[in-house]
Amino acid sequence: MNHQALDGIMTPRSIAVIGASSTPGKIGYTVLSNLINQGYKGKIFPINPGAEEILGLKAYPSVLDVPEDIDAAVITIPAKIVIPAVEECGKKGVKGLVIITSGFSEVGKRELEEELVQKAHEYNMRILGPNIVGVLANSSGMNASFAPYLPLPGKASLVSQSGALLIAIDASTYVRGVGFDKLISIGNMSDLDFADIIEWLNDDPNTTAITLYIEGFKNGRRFMDVCRRTNKPIIALKAGVSSHGAAAAASHTGSLAGAAKVYGAAFQQAGVVQASDLDNLFDRTLALSLQPPMKGDNLLIITNGGGVGVLATDAAEKYGVPLKFAPAEVQEELKKHMPEFGSAKNPVDLTGMAGTEWYHNAIKFAYAHPWVDGLVVLYCETAVTDPMEIAQGIKSAIDNSGANGKPVTVSFVGGERSDKAMRWLVDHGIPAYGAPDRAVNAIAALNEYARNKTLLAEPITLCGGENRNEALQIIERARAEGRDSLTEIEAKQVFALYGLPVTKTLLAKTEDEAVSLAREIGYPVVMKIVSPDILHKSDAGGVKVNLKDEQSVREAFRTIMANAKAYKADARIHGIAIQEMAPWGTEVILGSVNDATFGPTMMFGLGGIFVEVLKDVTFRVAPVSTSQALRMLGEIRGAPILAGVRGEEPRDKRALAETICSYSTMILDLADEISESDANPVLVYAEGKGVKVVDARIILKKK
Ligand code: COA
Repeated sequence: MNHQALDGIMTPRSIAVIGASSTPGKIGYTVLSNLINQGYKGKIFPINPGAEEILGLKAYPSVLDVPEDIDAAVITIPAKIVIPAVEECGKKGVKGLVIITSGFSEVGKRELEEELVQKAHEYNMRILGPNIVGVLANSSGMNASFAPYLPLPGKASLVSQSGALLIAIDASTYVRGVGFDKLISIGNMSDLDFADIIEWLNDDPNTTAITLYIEGFKNGRRFMDVCRRTNKPIIALKAGVSSHGAAAAASHTGSLAGAAKVYGAAFQQAGVVQASDLDNLFDRTLALSLQPPMKGDNLLIITNGGGVGVLATDAAEKYGVPLKFAPAEVQEELKKHMPEFGSAKNPVDLTGMAGTEWYHNAIKFAYAHPWVDGLVVLYCETAVTDPMEIAQGIKSAIDNSGANGKPVTVSFVGGERSDKAMRWLVDHGIPAYGAPDRAVNAIAALNEYARNKTLLAEPITLCGGENRNEALQIIERARAEGRDSLTEIEAKQVFALYGLPVTKTLLAKTEDEAVSLAREIGYPVVMKIVSPDILHKSDAGGVKVNLKDEQSVREAFRTIMANAKAYKADARIHGIAIQEMAPWGTEVILGSVNDATFGPTMMFGLGGIFVEVLKDVTFRVAPVSTSQALRMLGEIRGAPILAGVRGEEPRDKRALAETICSYSTMILDLADEISESDANPVLVYAEGKGVKVVDARIILKKK
């Protein structure tokens, strides 16, 4: 990436404020005064055709009149006059534009925004915004925004799609004690988007973790690529995950693919740690910006109170780092630092008698022990201890342990003295929280980050995909008939071309043909109506199962035809599908959506009639390797069913994972054609016996 334009915005040596004003209350006044008064060391040029001097600085009618170079221009003039000002910036050689002005695509003025971007690109300038609060950077004392002050200094940098939230976060950094180096408002993302800023922050020496507030964006694949390549932790809060206003979908998968699930999958696949809400975003940011990743799963909790210990234990299970008992030799050593009635299991309870020395010695030993991958230290404020001394004891224990590279988080439950001690810990690089579950959640984020990064290192091997042309021909034929979905037979043909094990299915146009095809397939058979106008075949009386002989096939043929005509008199009927009757297996559903942000995305869940009620499904952005697919199988609540319940043999997970991999290859390969699809049900047999796709649906993209 060419960093120059972004350097111009993030670390400018000089800034012009276009629309600088002497009138307090105007945004052009606030931005200029923030730059002058909050520590920015570069040159500042107020631009205003009607002023000679503003806030003690010489003002210029245009950037073209400024005798020196300008790196960044912050624009605070009304939308209708922005483009000519941008043109002047281009002529002047300005590198980057921070366009605070509203009134572009967010109010439907897309063309004006496009023209703006075009103009900037003509002169190799990049745009942050429009419709933003601006950029704030503690490291350069730059408040190029209309937020009142720089945030509490810290090591993370925040990128926010909401301007108002950014201002609110700015103020709350002081209350929460969680600091940032940069706050970057990206508004309409007309040009620079999350991916560009993340790429830049990855090389920023003042940023150790990248925090994102996301409402939605377009180029999800690029976002994922950039995040994967980033070697700093990224924490994201995605807003707008409720089903309110979600578009109607034509497939099961479409109706289950909420933004939360798809974004969640994409984050995981891109190594991004997710936050559940704003508080959690701060908590996780603090941990990820101050502490190293937790590379294994052995979490040890040291406490002086049983209650907080139990709360932390519950949280450990909830957040995916369940506690294990420490090995005997660890317990033996820890017992030396507690009274007889203490507990050296996990949580390690030093008891209410624990003073700084016990804390110090227990932590020093535990932190250095190779079994321990991460440490959570809990403290309940007592009358016999001083929170600040305990905090200092924790810090010196870690410093003197002779070990490093492992995370530690802390929770002090108490009053003002505890609060002060926690601030001290944070100032000394140890994240501290007012509740034990928050300290555990924070260390779980460090574990999640390490796990996601390990997964990213896995190579993705695609399954199949040599038969694209044949699949396209089937799709073209359907399109030629004016259809935007494939029949079950066609969908199964496409599935089969990508190696999915579909039940043998042949089309009979007449009763006699049905009989001869049933014989060819072998009894018993299933018969289903094939009509592009009847999507819900069972509702139309268009399905008969377990037909064991010629007579029942003949009867079924007549009944199905009559039912279909009664259901929809003018339905186009291609015939009746004669299908191998697959033996019983565990029902699962596979499916896909072509997500507007991330493109082809796979779904897996338990099938059957409750799929849409229980929503027990999981997603991955395609492609999905077999090993990723195996992980998907373990993610749903119903996962134990595949392991074999009530004496049943374990199901063939390997074959199912390979099917998911092939399916994901298909939706990626045919991304321009397939909008949604389902394989429902897919029957999963005992280990070694494979899977069968019994029904298939493909909805085509509208062209
Ligand atoms: N170059 C430089 N300055 C110019 C100019 C030009 N070509 N044309 C006019 N100006 C001056 C104006 O004279 C005025 O200065 P003055 O106070 O000395 O008269 C100054 O620029 C600002 O212009 P004005 O017309 O007074 O605009 P405004 O301050 O009322 O509003 C915006 C401008 C950008 C703040 C407003 O249009 C806007 O978009 N507000 C919303 C911003 C926002 O909330 N963004 C973030 C959303 S999260």
